[in-house]
Amino acid sequence: MIVRFIARDGTATTTVATPGDRLLDAAQAHNQPLEGTCEGQLACATCHVIVDPADFARLPPATEDEEDMLDLAHNATRTSRLACQIRLTEALDGLTVRIPN
Ligand code: FES
Repeated sequence: MIVRFIARDGTATTTVATPGDRLLDAAQAHNQPLEGTCEGQLACATCHVIVDPADFARLPPATEDEEDMLDLAHNATRTSRLACQIRLTEALDGLTVRIPN
């Protein structure tokens, strides 16, 4: 499946990801600058990404815990998510996310 990352400078990188992986893992496997300091424990928000508005509705909704952590993320938008909480599936093929400033 394809996942596209848009860097802070606007450069798009198209990657091949494995369904079942977390979006955070796919990002790190392709050298995207997402720290993921807490390794998915919902304690850091350094895995914050901004989902393309066209793709946002395809994602399962965020849990309350994820929403609470997103409130602490810098530059969060209405389509912000935490990459450690997104499990990739074929249904998400073509997902595009932006690395926030
Ligand atoms: S890796 Fe810490 S909240 Fe996602």
